[in-house]
Amino acid sequence: MIEEGSEEVVAMRVGVLTGGGDCPGLNAAIRAVVRKCEVGFRDEVVGFLDGWRGVMEDSSITLDVERCRGILPRGGTILGTSRTNPYKIDGGEQALLQTLERRGIDALVAIGGEDTLGVANKLGASGVPVVGIPKTIDNDLSATDVTIGFDTAVQIAAEAIDRLHTTAESHDRVIVCEVMGRHAGWIATYAGIAGGATVILVPEEPFSLDSVCEYIRHRHASGRYASIVVAAEGAKPVEGSLSVASGEPDQFGHERLGGIGQTVAEEIERRTGFEARVTILGHVQRGGTPSAFDRVLATRFGTAAVDAVHDLAWRQMVAAHGPRIERVPIDDAVSSLKTLDPELFRSVAEVFFG
Ligand code: F6P
Repeated sequence: MIEEGSEEVVAMRVGVLTGGGDCPGLNAAIRAVVRKCEVGFRDEVVGFLDGWRGVMEDSSITLDVERCRGILPRGGTILGTSRTNPYKIDGGEQALLQTLERRGIDALVAIGGEDTLGVANKLGASGVPVVGIPKTIDNDLSATDVTIGFDTAVQIAAEAIDRLHTTAESHDRVIVCEVMGRHAGWIATYAGIAGGATVILVPEEPFSLDSVCEYIRHRHASGRYASIVVAAEGAKPVEGSLSVASGEPDQFGHERLGGIGQTVAEEIERRTGFEARVTILGHVQRGGTPSAFDRVLATRFGTAAVDAVHDLAWRQMVAAHGPRIERVPIDDAVSSLKTLDPELFRSVAEVFFG
């Protein structure tokens, strides 16, 4: 492995992986890493398959510019992904270290959210040269303004809300649109503002169903005008838990959510008498082609991560700060969740409720 402080410019063997939930823009980031490595530094790139599982099981492919042709606009990840947590598996870290040694990996670029980068951070503490790239549609990773995938998810959700408006209007209905975001209401708030929601429900601001119903009555009182309620999947009511968790928690301890929208819609219909429907956007928000913004962001992150590798800036994550891409300790990104800016919710979003 290359020692920190070494002056020599040398070609490296760089490993790359995508972990956690997929999102649009991952392929753009992989392509950028590969291009910068190959063209900029004559590095070889090894792509580990299915996140940390591929490193544990020594499952990988060789990546080069040719292999990455055409992937820029493609959703998903050509490397596959998983929610495997090596630190929840006996001998997990040992298996990772053995593979990296066996494959002669000089540096590992982990593209992920808080879980994947949390593992990268621990591995870094054990001496593995790691660099992180932030991605998650939820945008809840600290130390960066924005993550890969968020912009596309908001675009998809906002378009869906526009479509829901016209059908809701025709039938004079309330439609509850449930979007992703188990701990943070970034998607709900951005898409709700962009789509002109009647009210937005987020995990950070417990909601009162009485107020929600009041907003809806007010909106409908002004004439035949439909209401769209945008609810983050992790939204919680003040007076108790209406959140519905189903299924077993994953290896990082996250419950599979989905169901708050249905509960809220039923309750609205019962209390207000307005006919209500629910639309759960689910994984549609994570699929398909990335927005131009996400392609550019991923490309900038990917190239900056390779620069960080060659500067031997281990345990750093590339981050968006205003117009600049900077480096931050991965530790800063994963130590706490980046929840919604209360100013944005109270001073902007809430102004349009009702
Ligand atoms: O982590 C991103 C995310 O899309 C969350 O918004 C959502 O709760 C979760 O992943 C869904 O995970 P899965 O694809 O494993 O069901």
